[in-house]
Amino acid sequence: MKDITAFAKIPLGLFPTPIHKLENISRLLGTNVYIKRDDLTGIGLGGNKVRKLEYLLAEAKAKGAEVVFTTGGAQSNHAMLTAACAKRLGMTPILILKKRGVTERKGNQLLEYLMDTDVRFMDTDDYEDIYREMDRVGTELGKPYYKIPCGGSNALGALGYVDCVREIRQQADRMQLSFRHIVCAEGSGGTHAGLYLGTRLYMQETTVHGMMVDTDPFDQITSEIINGTIGLLGLDMKIRPEDLHLRDMCGPGYAIASEEGNAAIRMMAENEGLFLDPVYTGKAFAGLIAMAKEGAFAPQENVLYIYSGGAGGLFAVDMKL
Ligand SMILES: Cc1ncc(COP(=O)(O)O)c(C=O)c1O
Repeated sequence: MKDITAFAKIPLGLFPTPIHKLENISRLLGTNVYIKRDDLTGIGLGGNKVRKLEYLLAEAKAKGAEVVFTTGGAQSNHAMLTAACAKRLGMTPILILKKRGVTERKGNQLLEYLMDTDVRFMDTDDYEDIYREMDRVGTELGKPYYKIPCGGSNALGALGYVDCVREIRQQADRMQLSFRHIVCAEGSGGTHAGLYLGTRLYMQETTVHGMMVDTDPFDQITSEIINGTIGLLGLDMKIRPEDLHLRDMCGPGYAIASEEGNAAIRMMAENEGLFLDPVYTGKAFAGLIAMAKEGAFAPQENVLYIYSGGAGGLFAVDMKL
């Protein structure tokens, strides 16, 4: 196996992020629920993408890129954080976003405006159209450029969450406890992919549950990313789509608030003073609540919820409360 520390990484975030118990929610659910504060990764409004971008932007720098392209929906947290991180590193971010969701100057659009980011919209549902447009714009600019896929979810980006599991393992050892379950939101697959592989390497007793907030075939997508990362690390293993634990929490559609997600946001706000978002973290936490109610977690087991950020979306998406 290639040592993960051998991969170039640019420090962008503040790590380790804290882990603490959600005392009130644990009491309400009858389950020991802990939270990994990846909303506090230290740049932008925090969030999971920083861990991926430390690897992706290191590769961009190594390749001499001056311009960094990425994509997502109009309120993509990933796109906003890519702009923040690229700016910090002196590179020019260009965001070519799907014209889907809230395009007005609200939420992440406002933050991108404050960072004076070049944001363009394309009226398409196909990311391939957008990747072609990146090549067209990059060639026209005549500057070296680097393309980051939607969500930063590829084999290299997923290393960020393999590394996160190493971090969790060290924290758990220090706290003298173990996490039997990890729960995360699943929007483009990279976070789950890294967590899955990380647990196979560093926390074999742990099951990762991906809470799907979109309708894509995440069993295929995520296992492909994992197998790509396995290739990068030179590991002798292969993951099948059916090895993953996924739950559909999308509700009425991607980036459309769901009743369960709204209830989870309220539960977290009322009991713990933390604010989840309607697109990712609220729906993912609703999945954790549903599993607890179904008796999926034994009373002595500890569950770790990955709070992956997303505050920008809370101020843009209509929750219809
Ligand atoms: C706040 C937040 N949480 C979770 C996710 C899901 O992570 P991933 O895209 O790696 O599946 C995203 C992005 O998609 C996000 O912005």
